[in-house]
Amino acid sequence: MKETTFIPNVLIVAPSTNQSCESYDLITHKYIGLSNHNEPLYLDLWSSCTKQFTKNNNLFPHDMSNMHGKVVKVACFTYKPYVLLDLNSTLVPFGRDGMEIRIIEEFCRWVNCSVEIVRDDKHQWGEIYENMTGVGVLGSLVEDRVDLGITALYSWYEEYLALDFSAPCIRTGITCIAPAPRLLASWETPFLPFTLYIWIAIFFTFLYASIALTFAQGGSTKNIFLTTFGMMITQSQSDVGQSWRIRSITGWLLITGLVLDNAYGGGLASTFTVPKYEKSIDTIKDIVDKKIEWGATHDAWIFSLALSQETQIKQLVNQFKTYSFEELERKSYSRSMAFSIEKLPAGYYAIGEYITEKAVLDFTIMLEDFYYEQCVVMLRKSSAYTNKMNEMIGRLHESGLLLAWETQVALQHLNYQVQLEVKLSRSKKDVEKIEPLALRHVLGVFILYGLGIIISIVIFILEIIINKNTH
Ligand SMILES: *[C@@H]1O[C@H](CO)[C@@H](O)[C@H](O)[C@H]1NC(C)=O
Ligand SMILES: *[C@@H]1O[C@H](CO)[C@@H](O)[C@H](O)[C@H]1NC(C)=O
Repeated sequence: MKETTFIPNVLIVAPSTNQSCESYDLITHKYIGLSNHNEPLYLDLWSSCTKQFTKNNNLFPHDMSNMHGKVVKVACFTYKPYVLLDLNSTLVPFGRDGMEIRIIEEFCRWVNCSVEIVRDDKHQWGEIYENMTGVGVLGSLVEDRVDLGITALYSWYEEYLALDFSAPCIRTGITCIAPAPRLLASWETPFLPFTLYIWIAIFFTFLYASIALTFAQGGSTKNIFLTTFGMMITQSQSDVGQSWRIRSITGWLLITGLVLDNAYGGGLASTFTVPKYEKSIDTIKDIVDKKIEWGATHDAWIFSLALSQETQIKQLVNQFKTYSFEELERKSYSRSMAFSIEKLPAGYYAIGEYITEKAVLDFTIMLEDFYYEQCVVMLRKSSAYTNKMNEMIGRLHESGLLLAWETQVALQHLNYQVQLEVKLSRSKKDVEKIEPLALRHVLGVFILYGLGIIISIVIFILEIIINKNTH
C-alpha cells in the first residue's frame, strides 16, 4: 500500500502453513535501501510448540539511523541564502547550496540517505487548499510528493494543522528597507529655523504690534505695517517724534525684534551647515501612517501576520502587495514602496535579487522589526523523519554550525555590496556631516528674493498703469 511507504515499522503476523504446530511468520516491508520499498522482508518465525522465535531478530529493525541510500525527496526553490539551486556543479557539489540545503545534506550524510530535489518554482512557497491539495512547496508536502519541505518555511499556524514541523533551525527577523529620507528642498530652508507654532506666534505678534501702534498714533494707520515689520527685522526707524506712547511701543518692539532676529539667525546658520533630511521611516507606525506599500514576490510574508487582531498590523497587512520580479525591480528605482527583507542570525540579510546594488543606495533599513519567525523543516504529519531531523537540528545548534554556514553561504553567493549597503544604510548620513556653504544652500533664499522682486515689479507696473488711467 502507498500508506506503508510512510511508516518505517509495519509488523505483519501471518499464520505459517508448512509447519507441524501452529506458528506465525513475522514480516515487515523493506523500507530502507534504494528501491523496492514495498517488498516484504522476512524477519522471523514464532512457533507455539517451542514458544520461541527461531532467529531472535529485531522485529522493528528500522530505527531511521541508516537508510542505506533511500531517496529522500525535498521540495524547495531558489531563495537566497536558504536555498540556491542551478549553481555551477563544478564549483559546488550537485550545483546546490544554501543554509537549509546544507541542513538536508548533512542530515542525509548522517542517516545515509540520498537527496532528490523536487521543484515547483512557479508557485514558490505555494499554498494548501481546503481540499487538502496544493501547489508549491506546501502543496508538494500535503500531497505527499515529497518527504521534506524547506526554503524559509516559518512556523505558520495554518500549515501546522496539515503538516509536521521540525525544531526551529533559523531565527529570522522580518523588516523592510524603505526609501531613504531625502535632503529637504532648499526653498524650505528659510522657514526651518522656527517651527510652525513659532511662525504663527510671530504673525500674531506682528498683528498685535501693528494694532497697538495704531492706538498709539491716535487711530492713524499711517505706515503701521511697514514700521512694525521693519522693527521686527531690526531695521532702524525714522524719528517717531516726542510722543512717549509711540516711543515705548517702538522700544519694546525693537527689543522683541532683536531677540527674534538673533534666534532666527542662529537657526538659519545651523540649517545651512548641517544638512536637513525628511523624516525617515523607522517603525511599523511610520509605514502605516505614510501609507507606503510594501511587498515581495509572494504573500508568504504576511502568513504570520494574517491572523493578528491589532488594527495597526491589520493595516500593515492591507498595505502588502505582491508583484512580479520585473515589476519589483522597476519599482525599486521609483521610491514608491518598501521591500521586505529578512535579518538572519549571523548578521546577514535575505534580500530579493530584484534589489540591485544601484537601487539599494536609495534605501534605509527600518529600525523596528515587523515580526520574527522560526524557520522549520516541514514534513507530513507524523513523519518518520521528524524525530531524527529534530535531533539533527539540535546538534547543529549545539555546534554553532548554522551560524558558520550562514556566513559561508553569504560570502560565497550573496551580493556583498548590497549586504553592506543595507547594513550601513543608517550610518550613511553621519559621513556627510558639516559642509561649507554652497550655492544650493542659499538657493532657497534667492528663490524667495526673486519672487519678491517679481511681485514688486508687477505691482509697480500696475501702479503706473492705474495712476495713468485715473489722471
Ligand atoms: C550507506 O548506503 C549505501 C547504499 O546502500 C551502502 O552501500 C553503505 O554501506 C551505507 N553506509 C553505511 C555507513 O552504512
Ligand atoms: C482543490 O481545490 C483547488 C482550489 O480550490 C482546485 O483548483 C482543485 O481542482 C481541487 N482539487 C480537487 C482534487 O478537488
